[in-house]
Amino acid sequence: MKVAVIGAGTMGRGIAQAFAQCDEVEKVYLCDIKQEFADGGKDMVKKGFDKRIAKGKMAQEDADKILNKIQTGLNSQAVDPDLVVEAALEVMDIKKATFKELQEDIVKNPDCIFASNTSSLSITEIGNGLPKPIIGMHFFNPAPVMKLVEVIAGINTPAADVAKVVEISEKLGKTPVQVNEAPGFVVNRILVPMINEGIQVYSEGVADIEGIDSAMKLGCNHPMGPLELGDYIGLDIVLAIMDVIYKETGDSKYRACTLLRKMVRGKHLGCKTGIGFYKYENGAKTPVDKL
Ligand code: CAA
Repeated sequence: MKVAVIGAGTMGRGIAQAFAQCDEVEKVYLCDIKQEFADGGKDMVKKGFDKRIAKGKMAQEDADKILNKIQTGLNSQAVDPDLVVEAALEVMDIKKATFKELQEDIVKNPDCIFASNTSSLSITEIGNGLPKPIIGMHFFNPAPVMKLVEVIAGINTPAADVAKVVEISEKLGKTPVQVNEAPGFVVNRILVPMINEGIQVYSEGVADIEGIDSAMKLGCNHPMGPLELGDYIGLDIVLAIMDVIYKETGDSKYRACTLLRKMVRGKHLGCKTGIGFYKYENGAKTPVDKL
């Protein structure tokens, strides 16, 4: 099987790694709008492997085998994939234009399945006006580690595509959960309002940043507290998901916290900008008082 991953950011490169680690996958095209972005994504995968090799958890030859399957380039290299997984920016017009170009001008395999890794946008709307249907194939960060794939059917997604993407997810060693399209699907509909509530609790001065995170880790056995997880996902993504769920449902319980919006406006996005609820410096993480 050949797979094209469109977008070499955090999710795209993680998804590319997950596919390249699967024995049934012979080639992964890791694509972006600039060669250097695609190369940068592959380089991050390599750096992750280097760390594991240094710890004696991975053999160099296994790393090389996986990395050799990942071919970087522009979207135009994706001529013969069996599956496209789009992980571009969470902007509807960009996703639509990307799929249009792939379907009309680039991908020549008539049986190729076109999937989006969108975290909350409507699969039906992404597919509107396109020659071929779209399916949701939603991975979780870090994609090589997290076991879940949400397989999302829009109203025009063929059942055969759902069955195929379920089968492919299982081959990757993931557990697929079939989801009917709805704002935020399953995980983000529940998880992201919880993170938003964590930010609200903090902005009301109920506890400090580390207190809130410790409470949720120790009280609920979550691997990360809501504020550190927000930083990890990216607060811009958290806000975008809240806004989509709020807009689609019109329900005020999904209103984004004003502190979240202010932080995104100020580029305090979390790990990716080096500052969010925590400051990330020289591998250390310290809480930043926002009140
Ligand atoms: N890429 C690849 N592998 C990674 C990785 C990454 N970015 N980060 C960690 N790993 C691997 C490590 O190499 C390690 O593997 P080995 O044991 O084989 O060496 C393993 O994961 C565990 O990593 P660590 O020991 O460094 O750290 P940890 O045990 O604290 O786990 C974690 C890290 C997996 C991220 C854990 O903290 C966790 O599960 N956090 C919650 C993550 C979560 O909730 N993700 C979902 C976010 S929501 C989302 O993604 C959807 C959306 O649309 C927004």
